[in-house]
Amino acid sequence: MNRLVDVGKATFAKSISRRDFVRAAIAAGGLASTYASGMMGLLRISRAPSREVRATLNEISKDLITSNIDFFIRNHFATPKINSDAWSLEIGGMVSKPLRLSYSDLLLTSSVRRAFTLECAGNRSGGGGVGTAVWSGLPLAELLKQAGLRPGATTVVFHGADSGDGEAVPPGTHFARAIALDKAMDPSSLLAYEMNGEPLPADHGFPLRAVIPGWYGMDSVKWLTRVEISDQPFKGYFQQEEYVSVKANGERRPITRMLVNSKFLRPFEGEEIQGKTYRVEGEAWAGEGSIGKVELRLQPSGPWQQATLSAAAVTMVWTPWSYEWQIVRPGQYTLEVRATDSDGHTQPDVRDPDRKDAYELNTPHRISVSVRS
Ligand code: MTE
Repeated sequence: MNRLVDVGKATFAKSISRRDFVRAAIAAGGLASTYASGMMGLLRISRAPSREVRATLNEISKDLITSNIDFFIRNHFATPKINSDAWSLEIGGMVSKPLRLSYSDLLLTSSVRRAFTLECAGNRSGGGGVGTAVWSGLPLAELLKQAGLRPGATTVVFHGADSGDGEAVPPGTHFARAIALDKAMDPSSLLAYEMNGEPLPADHGFPLRAVIPGWYGMDSVKWLTRVEISDQPFKGYFQQEEYVSVKANGERRPITRMLVNSKFLRPFEGEEIQGKTYRVEGEAWAGEGSIGKVELRLQPSGPWQQATLSAAAVTMVWTPWSYEWQIVRPGQYTLEVRATDSDGHTQPDVRDPDRKDAYELNTPHRISVSVRS
């Protein structure tokens, strides 16, 4: 059994407090790049006691982090029960030194921690299939380097422990997804064992999951058992039959990066509002990029009005926004929100009519509310 050598201890941990660590992890980019330029905003930390991390998370930014209990769950099969003492992860395939890691190997290795937003590829506009958590884990790239990538490797396949016959899958299929080696080598791609300062909850992938920031959630494979490096396109069921964009003319394209998107947090659909002012709030996110602006419309075909970003826009993390609505008169309103990323991509007004699949749904979130005087 190969024991993982430590991938590096915290070099700047002593100079700022744990509280600042977590703040910086959440705000990513800024502080992180000051202290760890070249790591793309990831903070390398020695393990902090989870209780302390949780307390700090509670203190800050409730609008930024989704608690574990509120985080959406998307499982194709039943949640597997995994005993961490018996579990191990294998990293094999086109590598010169295959690795096998136990749970305690993971815990003994210094980790990185950062907030990332995860959205399900099938999340409907305004739907609950999106959330942001602070993930702690090991940079995948460092493990792959330790395993020694062999020339010609192009693809990294994540295998999950869950399998079954549900949802018309061939009997006995297990959940597995592949990503391009380039994405796997991005310093933000993690194998995560903690979510918001707690060991991963069973439904979210205990003991270890991939977190592939900026790409739709299907690539963040849970309950990892094996990471396989290959020089071939992966032909698994969930790679070929699902998570594919299909056009009316038969054109097919794999789903990868999250598209720019946004949603209301308040008011909610059907809410009755009273008064002359109302603070509208929500979140906007932009996959691998960051949010440039968020706009609101208070009546269909009315003018788009700019919302205020409540935090600095950070890549791969959603940005909270707000809008102070000065209500002129009572009545029925249809509110719409749309975001534009920093490269100028705006959410489309209507869904591409040629699309036959139900992924990448990012038309503006629309809600109806009534205002009483
Ligand atoms: N990993 C495994 N092993 N099995 C799954 O069914 N679902 C994927 C991904 N990883 C899935 C998985 C999908 S479609 C999404 S959107 C995310 O997990 C959801 O992660 P969450 O349940 O932690 O929110």
